[in-house]
Formats: sequence, C-alpha cells, structure tokens
Amino acid sequence: MEDLKKIIDVNLNSEMYYKNMSNSSSDKWRLNYHLEPPFGLLNDPNGLAYFKGEYYIFYQWNPYKCEHKDKHWALVKTKDFMHYSIPKAVLAPDEWYDKDGCYSGSAIAIEDKLELFYTGNVRDDKGNREAYQCRASLNQDGELVKKGPVVDKLPKGYTAHFRDPYIFEKDGKYYFVLGAQLEEKIGRALLYSSEDLNKWSFEGEIKTDYENFGYMWECPSLFNLDGKDILIFSPQGLESEEFRYQNIYQSGYIIGKFDFETLNFKHGEFRELDLGKDFYAPQVFKDDKNRTIMIGWMGMPEEEDKYPTKELGWLHCLTMPRELILKDDIIYQVPLKEFENYRIKLLEDTKNIICNEWNTDALETNSYELLLEIDRLEAKKIELRFLEGKDEYSSLVFNFEEGSGFLDNNKLINGVNSVRRFKFNNDKIKVHMFVDKSAVEIFLQDGETVISSRVYPEEGSTGLRILAENNVNIKDLKLWNLGEMLYE
Ligand code: FRU
Repeated sequence: MEDLKKIIDVNLNSEMYYKNMSNSSSDKWRLNYHLEPPFGLLNDPNGLAYFKGEYYIFYQWNPYKCEHKDKHWALVKTKDFMHYSIPKAVLAPDEWYDKDGCYSGSAIAIEDKLELFYTGNVRDDKGNREAYQCRASLNQDGELVKKGPVVDKLPKGYTAHFRDPYIFEKDGKYYFVLGAQLEEKIGRALLYSSEDLNKWSFEGEIKTDYENFGYMWECPSLFNLDGKDILIFSPQGLESEEFRYQNIYQSGYIIGKFDFETLNFKHGEFRELDLGKDFYAPQVFKDDKNRTIMIGWMGMPEEEDKYPTKELGWLHCLTMPRELILKDDIIYQVPLKEFENYRIKLLEDTKNIICNEWNTDALETNSYELLLEIDRLEAKKIELRFLEGKDEYSSLVFNFEEGSGFLDNNKLINGVNSVRRFKFNNDKIKVHMFVDKSAVEIFLQDGETVISSRVYPEEGSTGLRILAENNVNIKDLKLWNLGEMLYE
C-alpha cells in the first residue's frame, strides 16, 4: 500500500511539474529537445519500441534522489519526437525479486501486446547481489503487469553481475542477450532462447575474439543491419588511451556474422559509438519505417557530484534518437529527420566565404543546430568556439597536420573539466552540431564520429565563432534556432 501511494505521488508530482513548467522555477540548464527527468536521476534508456503507432521510450529513473538507487522504469510516449506524454513511473522496485531496483531491459511488440524484460536487482541480508530476469506485460489499459522472474538461476561459472536482457525474435524463436561476468571477473554476453516467452533456456556464451576485454559487459543489443550482425555492448574496465576508452566505461560494437547454432561471432575490431564524455548504455530498436534507431544515456556514473543540476534536484538526460546507417562496416549515426521540425528560423545561411574568422551576432540562444562544411585550404588548424561568454567558452579543434581533433570543455566555468580526442582524415570537415542548453551532440563527417557532452554555460554565453590560422573556405554554413518539445 505504502509503495503504491509513493508511486501515485511521484506521478502526480511529475504531472504538476509539466503543467507548471512555463511559470515554474525551472533552471537555465533544463533541456528543450532532449528527454530529461522532471526530478531525480535518469540513466539507461530501456524498452525502446515502436508500438501501436507510438514510440515507447522507457528509462531508468530514481524519482526520489539524484543517486543510483531505487531504480524504477519511467515511460514517455511520442508519435513524432516533438509531442510527448508526461513521464510516469511504470515499474517500481516493490516485489521480492526486484526490491533493490528494476534494472535495465528491453521490449518486444508482439501483435497487440508489448512485452518487457528487465532485471530484478536484489541484495540479501549480507549485501550479496542476486539478479532475476523478469517479465512484465502492458495490458489493454496501458498499465504494466509484472509477471515475475523467467530466469531465476545463474548459469554455472558466472557471477550475479547478470543483467540487462535485450529481447528479439528470429525465425520464430525468441532470444535475449544478457550482460554478464565470468567468475574470473571478465565480461561476457550470454544468449537465452524461448518458444513462448515464459520458459527460457541458456544457450551459452556469445563467442567473440574479445576473451579478456573488461570485467563486465553491460547493456548488450544484438541486431542485424543490412545483412550484418552487430553486437553493441558497454564494457567496464578498459584502460584509457589517448584516443580510445577516454571515459571510465565505454560503449561500442563489433560487427560481422553471428552463428546462432555454434554461437560463434566472426567480427572486426570493437569500435566506440561516441567519443564524448557523456554517453553510455545505448539501446537499439527498429521502427515501422524499418529504421534502426539508437538512444543512449547522455551521462556517465562518474564525477556526478560535479554536475551542477544535481543540487537542483535533477540529473542526466537521454541522447537524441539517432538512425544507424552502415557504410563499409562502420556505423554512421544520424539524428532523426523528425528533429528538423524543431527548426524555428534559419539565422545564418552562408556559402563559400574565404576567411580566417567568422562569427555570428544572430544567436541569442543556446538551443540551435549548426551545419558546417569547411575546406581547410592552407589552414593547419580550425577552431569552432561556442558557448562563448565573458569568461568562458567551449572549443572544438581540428588539427589537420596531426589528423586529430578534440572537444575541450576546460574553459567552461561549470561542470566537469574534460578534453575528448578523436581522429579524422580529410581536408574537408563536416560538423553537424546540436546545442541544447546543457547538452551538446556533435556529429562529424556525416556521423562517422559522434561526441556527446553535457555543458553548463552561464546565462548569455551564446557566442559562436570559427577561428583559423590561415584562410579557410566556409563552403556551407547553416544555423537554426530550435524550439522545444511539448508534454501533454
Ligand atoms: C548501466 C547499468 C545497467 C543496470 C542499470 C541500473 O548504466 O549499470 O547495467 O541495469 O544501469 O540502473
């Protein structure tokens, strides 16, 4: 009873938050077109699905505190990525098998039903971890009904770091892939199968060349794109290098051919999906237009005390949904076309200007989209400065001689200091950048490289300019201010 009352209150408070949004004391870092929690902490996207004409987006949510505890599933629905239902807590940790958290999982639409699978996280009296893979179904009234554990035992040889079922159907059979850890503390992905969604059999480990690649693999997604099998996962425990694994945890993929009989995965090298400091635990789903769409958690369980919104009672957001496109075995990420509907006004539209400095006066907002193509001509370096104010800025730098660049947030007053590096190989650069008050997503070279970062500029730090040592050709520059999503 008490649990039920708590959830009713959470959902009423959420409703109140959105109803009063226009005259509430909402802070300057609240987002315009990224999904954020009304209060509390958000992490992984969960249960992504296209169902009965709507996109279902669930996420990990602690509605009580900005802490990694009490994980619920929140749900928002949208038809067009502009109008959203008010976030509601729909799964709460109130059963013996999920009492310490309804952890991450996924959804599958089967005819007129949406079936969800998630991990029930349980700690026993001594603090030991237990993990149950659980099922819940959406009923006709749109409520989630828990069906309890479908896998309640650990397979031999693995620890209780056993979670995040990603369900899919293949040739009339259901499967889920799970993140797991060998007793030797090495990350793995496991495969289960089922005929009826209730009885699940352990098929075994997905056999990759990555025998020893981090101590735990979280949040796997296994899917097929243009005839290629892809396993996305989030390994923990890789050592940082200059251009790779720059965060505490990573998210990336291997691509090739997966054999469902032998569980052998023939694949190429692990490649990270996003080199920014705020990206983790992405999940993939397909929609009715056969688009393969990925959403990630735009956050990281690191240095969270330095994220200034924590004190304001809310923390983290999701990335924009990105369509995945395969070219030469590389995943390119492109923001969904629907986001063009956020464009209010084309503020700048420039072609072929040769210069070594460009700036705009037209920008009085940090809610915008920039499309930029530059030919470097003789320039060795190009810098894009943005969020520029009296005493701060953020910069994206391209060094053509070294074939590398970086996003530097060290000159910003608030938030985590960071530099994130990337490589590129071209005399022409293409930048597609979305700035949303405290979230920046940068798609480079048509989405070959992506960098996502939370930033917390001061009021009025909206300066945007391009600086180069020598003349460059700004072949194309378009700048739109962007509007905001609506909750109803
Ligand atoms: C990844 C993760 C998952 C887990 C969830 C708990 O960020 O640790 O493995 O299910 O978050 O919130």
